[in-house]
Amino acid sequence: MPRVLTEEQRAAWDRDGYVVLPDFVDLALLGDLRDRIDAIVSDYSDGGLPDGAATVFSTTEQTHAQDDWFLTSADVVRPFFEDGAFDAAGDLVVPLDRALNKLGHAMHDRDPVFDRFSRTGALAGLADDLGFVEPLLLQSMVIFKPPHIGGEVVCHCDHTFLWTEPRSVVGFWFALDDATVDNGCMWAIPGGHTGGARTRFRRQGAGTTTDVLDPTPYDMDALVPLEVAAGTCIAFHGCLPHWSAPNTSDQSRLAYTLHVIDGTADYPADNWLQRGPDLPLRGF
Ligand code: FE2
Repeated sequence: MPRVLTEEQRAAWDRDGYVVLPDFVDLALLGDLRDRIDAIVSDYSDGGLPDGAATVFSTTEQTHAQDDWFLTSADVVRPFFEDGAFDAAGDLVVPLDRALNKLGHAMHDRDPVFDRFSRTGALAGLADDLGFVEPLLLQSMVIFKPPHIGGEVVCHCDHTFLWTEPRSVVGFWFALDDATVDNGCMWAIPGGHTGGARTRFRRQGAGTTTDVLDPTPYDMDALVPLEVAAGTCIAFHGCLPHWSAPNTSDQSRLAYTLHVIDGTADYPADNWLQRGPDLPLRGF
């Protein structure tokens, strides 16, 4: 398979736990993905939200229903909403394009446009360069982070949520808009991946729990902003601490993320993300 990373980029990956790849995405594919996201949002707007969505998010008291909405989203395309998007009657109190937090978590296997975007030769080559033996595309998300509404994502690493033994998860973060400090770009702690995951989020009974493995707080002063142009891919190690600020600007900060694990690693039965038998994980 042809190499994607230069020697310098490979060294940056080893040292920092991430590598920034400008102009990674083919512009036609980028346009197709943006159009498809617009179409999905229009469908929700014109044709109504998926069954149950308004009920689940209509009050902040419905922890169990929201847990269920999340825990059964491994093999579907489902919207998630910002807090306060609905009133108690289940009616939207802000326009839909300001209400959506994200889509998840199987666009890459359920939607042909996302499938094409997620299964390119360049991405397969990048995964190969990063050492994957049997790459499996586990999870995809569209993250809206709308102007003035999109909130903070607290500092975390993704291995916490997508655990394998040994650690294998890598995140691929695609900027669909220019991402800046003002509109809530990703920040990361260079080299922080060497510290391992400090928590593990997993299923417990009908809900979830978080095991604290190391109570040391992240050094937030060590975060550096990753300001990137639309079309950039940031590949980041599953143990890399990353964070993003609220979007306080007038500019949207649309992103698509894809998480890949190695099929040679063990995938625990108490990970939150569990697919049904009709949609096994696939590679590139
Ligand atoms: Fe993350």
